[in-house]
Amino acid sequence: MQSLASFVLFAVLAAPALAQTPTVSLLIDNGFPSTGTISLRSVLDSVAARKGATFHFGSTWDTSYSSAEASWTTNVYNTFFNHIVAENGCKWQSTEPSRGTSSLTQCLGVQSYAVARNASFRGHNTFWHSQLPSWLPGSVTASDLVTNVIPQHVQQEIQGMGSGVTSWDVVNEIVGDGVSNGMTALQCVQNKNDWPTKTADGSGTNLVTDLSFVHAAFSTALKYAPASARLAVNDYNTGGNDAKTACMFQVLADINANAAVPYNRLAVGFQSHISAAPGQFSAKSDLANNFAKLAALGANAMITELDIKLSSATSANERYQAAIWGDYLDACLYASNCFEFINWDTRDDLSWIGASGAGTLFDTNGNPKPAAYEVAARLQRYASGATELCATALGTSQCTVPAGGSTTSSSSASSTSSSSSSSTTAPSGPTGCQSAEWGQCGGIGWTGCTSCVSGTTCQTSNAYYSQCLP
Ligand SMILES: *[C@@H]1O[C@H](CO)[C@@H](O)[C@H](O)[C@H]1NC(C)=O
Repeated sequence: MQSLASFVLFAVLAAPALAQTPTVSLLIDNGFPSTGTISLRSVLDSVAARKGATFHFGSTWDTSYSSAEASWTTNVYNTFFNHIVAENGCKWQSTEPSRGTSSLTQCLGVQSYAVARNASFRGHNTFWHSQLPSWLPGSVTASDLVTNVIPQHVQQEIQGMGSGVTSWDVVNEIVGDGVSNGMTALQCVQNKNDWPTKTADGSGTNLVTDLSFVHAAFSTALKYAPASARLAVNDYNTGGNDAKTACMFQVLADINANAAVPYNRLAVGFQSHISAAPGQFSAKSDLANNFAKLAALGANAMITELDIKLSSATSANERYQAAIWGDYLDACLYASNCFEFINWDTRDDLSWIGASGAGTLFDTNGNPKPAAYEVAARLQRYASGATELCATALGTSQCTVPAGGSTTSSSSASSTSSSSSSSTTAPSGPTGCQSAEWGQCGGIGWTGCTSCVSGTTCQTSNAYYSQCLP
């Protein structure tokens, strides 16, 4: 019966007419705040307590911000985010303007800003084909690049930034967009039509003809990065059940095998520059499956650059955006190996996609949008100990994670009755059991005990969560 209630609530309510924004159900419709100031720092501490490790919930910053921008961001980083990445300040262009010269002023500036906010810092990035210094690609040969240039750059940047880095994007965007299933790691990377796989003259000529540049970057990163830092391959258009995501696994396996980087140091960064339109984002179930596959290897998953572009900032689109944001966040929160979730750019007018894309959590006046309240609600709900929700942006038919929390195969997922019985981690059952003090005892999707140990009573916090309170 609980499953049925959940099905009704999460079903897409509007007829999926073409170009019509799906109507979604949100936590902010069901007892969680949708107005007012949002304070997340203590919620994030509670999320960390449940996860057993810090949950890094962040966004971008750069030393180039105006004082007006910086005064708003300072408030948002003191209260909302607990994690910061430089949008530009740590890229090769900024960090090695002439060959052999280490110039970490901007990158260190962002790290110091993070420290002053009591926030953590992640490194983005040591290798990318774009935003290069003017001396690159130039006339550097393949062997000079692999033997000298990349190791020197990766070493001086990673060493220079020291221990206060949670993760490094060691290589950024090295997989092609025209890949197909079954490609080897080399084929995946050779499919990329950019330097250094190709020469920089646009002729399509191969420059580095193997994966030695990737291995050079990773073996250097492994040597100089702090032992706790996750070392990532970071890319866009990934996270679904698709060929590019399959390539990420191929590349990761190759790095593990040929650069001798243990899986427990490796991560895939799912950039997630997506749009709030059907088919323009990954199903939560696909994200969950990819994260679980990485967990099975011992590797980490992270959402590194999430923004969700809108065709226009209508209320229906903003609600759809909130649902997708919530689903991406839940996919990470409920994964055993996802500890970093970065929202790319803090507010719409600071976003690289432009204010009209309305792709961030805060509007051009700096006010929280429905997505900001929804992510606050998802964090709060997770911190309270509640079990995982189905995807709200896609409806229950897409849900492969039953209320008990274990990921199931998609074949068993579409039936609401089998999904609750296939759970392996749900509490033993609704009859004859009692939840402990502070434990959950009800709410939509809950399949565990619905009565409480003596001395406590089951009280409804909101539609999704009831708790045994003394
Ligand atoms: C800094 O953040 C940590 C983790 O959230 C928290 O435990 C600590 O109290 C904070 N320190 C200050 C000075 O706010």
